[in-house]
Amino acid sequence: MCGIVAYIGPKDATPFLLEGLARLEYRGYDSAGVAVAGRTGGVKVRKVKGRVADLAAEVPARFKGTTGIGHTRWATHGVPSDANAHPHLDNAERIAVVHNGIVENADELRVRLAAEGAVFRSETDTEVLSHLIAAHATEGVELEEAVRAALGKVVGTYGIAVLDAERPDRVVVARNGSPIVLGIGEKEMFVASDVSALVRYTRQVVHLEDGELATVRADGFRTFTEDARTTHRQPSTVDWEIDSYDTGGYEHFLLKEIHEQPGSVERTLSGRLDERFATAHLGGLNLDARELREIRRVKILGCGSAYYAGEMGAQLIEELARIPAHSEPASEFRYRNPVIEADTLYIAVSQSGETYDTLAAVQEVKRKGGRVLGVVNTVGSAIARECDGGIYLHAGPEISVASTKAFTSTVVAFALLALHFGRIHDLSPADGRRIVSALNALPGQIREILAQSDEIAGLAAEYADSTGMMFIGRVRGYPVAREGAQKLKEISYVHAEAYPASELKHGPLALISPELPTVALVPDDELLDKNLTTLGEIKARAGRVLAVAHRRPDARLADHCILVPKSEPELDPLLLNIPLQLLAYHAAVALKRDVDKPRNLAKSVTVE
Ligand code: AGP
Repeated sequence: MCGIVAYIGPKDATPFLLEGLARLEYRGYDSAGVAVAGRTGGVKVRKVKGRVADLAAEVPARFKGTTGIGHTRWATHGVPSDANAHPHLDNAERIAVVHNGIVENADELRVRLAAEGAVFRSETDTEVLSHLIAAHATEGVELEEAVRAALGKVVGTYGIAVLDAERPDRVVVARNGSPIVLGIGEKEMFVASDVSALVRYTRQVVHLEDGELATVRADGFRTFTEDARTTHRQPSTVDWEIDSYDTGGYEHFLLKEIHEQPGSVERTLSGRLDERFATAHLGGLNLDARELREIRRVKILGCGSAYYAGEMGAQLIEELARIPAHSEPASEFRYRNPVIEADTLYIAVSQSGETYDTLAAVQEVKRKGGRVLGVVNTVGSAIARECDGGIYLHAGPEISVASTKAFTSTVVAFALLALHFGRIHDLSPADGRRIVSALNALPGQIREILAQSDEIAGLAAEYADSTGMMFIGRVRGYPVAREGAQKLKEISYVHAEAYPASELKHGPLALISPELPTVALVPDDELLDKNLTTLGEIKARAGRVLAVAHRRPDARLADHCILVPKSEPELDPLLLNIPLQLLAYHAAVALKRDVDKPRNLAKSVTVE
């Protein structure tokens, strides 16, 4: 939700802190702050409501120190304001803390600390951490001991970095439910909540585990557990390209990520298709054919677009493997005391691998003895680690808040899983070959759609000033409509509603008017005639229609049409979705929205 950075080494920390925060801004962007310490003594702090650029403008040239921490915030406790921005200090302005996550017992701790003399200057839960650590950092107690003792009193989730004016030779960090990564440099060390802030400086990283702390010094680090046992962590190498963290000449990350899809789909497919047996190889499932045959149901769990990708995945599994499959919002599932069945396979979907609701749903299934696979983009993320096996997307880092390439790769991963499942059950070799060759054709077909970007921009400009938009699709088309509506509302703030086309006449037809255009998914499949009838019903009520179709409908049924290349019917939803990404993007640009950082949202929702 928020972003953390820290630096310790021979150089001035501030340039790295500001650059790192700018790279993490997609995770939270309503306020930002930095604190530095050095040989001159004392902690210097600057923090502002607003963007990292506003912070940079406030930081004077003399703001220097060889040890520093920084934060970009997405407000949970207290409004976005200078006072609520991190870092937070104790009374003596000695201990500075930046924090991602939520201190659940903050109110109780605040009362206790206030009674002991702590003066609170913000409404945040984080400020209790600086006072609590300061209370433990008494004469002769090492900073790491004070942090460990303070965290022992905290209920909640955190990734934290702590700076002590009296010990500027170290930064102490801790993780519990919110990522912390150490970056190993040449006689300097970096810390961040996400590798994107580090990759320009080092590829050697250590991901802390939940319940782990680290003392980070310029010449290295030491990791240990909450009960002070030393842990031994081997660095790993970040293999994502540095270019992935830049807009690479595109106006926005979102447009770049939409255009990266031919390559990201190729990476999701790479080495996983078996032409000989017309199936897919998925090494990470940790389930053999016999175990897979025993599965009677599939339940897919994810949030937002990950949930809609799961709906497409459920359709693929039912169609190709003939196993009942259903997708449900993880955020609902975890609260409803779900029945966990031994012969059900649970699949968690998450781009970031950090979404708290999805992680909690996985933990709920596992607690009850269920088996969970992860379909995850971020290698080594919390959800990936919690699952029993799964499929990595290899889509590359996704920076824009709106998910596009990870969404598409998730559907591709489900197609591979459904093919694998299907071929273990009754999917014929001929049908297997049909899917294999359709999967191989996807990157080229996505390129064909992307080539229509300018034309779609023209349509987006025409529809962007509507009071709202209806998205409709039938059966396979319905999840496409849901994801299309989600993308439009998320980045353009145009109200968008998705409905099954078959349900229109049961209520929402009353909304149809020239002011509420409809985006209709019209694949050339067995339901084409039904879809054309629905278009006729909309036109009869003076509704405007933008069809996304394989064949241009009669001009009396659609005002405009975006043509999409045809795949196999099971895979058509994936391609039908791509023009809707471009439509949402260009509508947001036409409306001058902050495309990559839409209001009120953050890339990973690591809180409840
Ligand atoms: C997608 O455009 C959204 N920003 C959002 O719905 C997202 O898909 C959801 O929060 C889940 O994120 P995850 O895939 O990282 O778990």
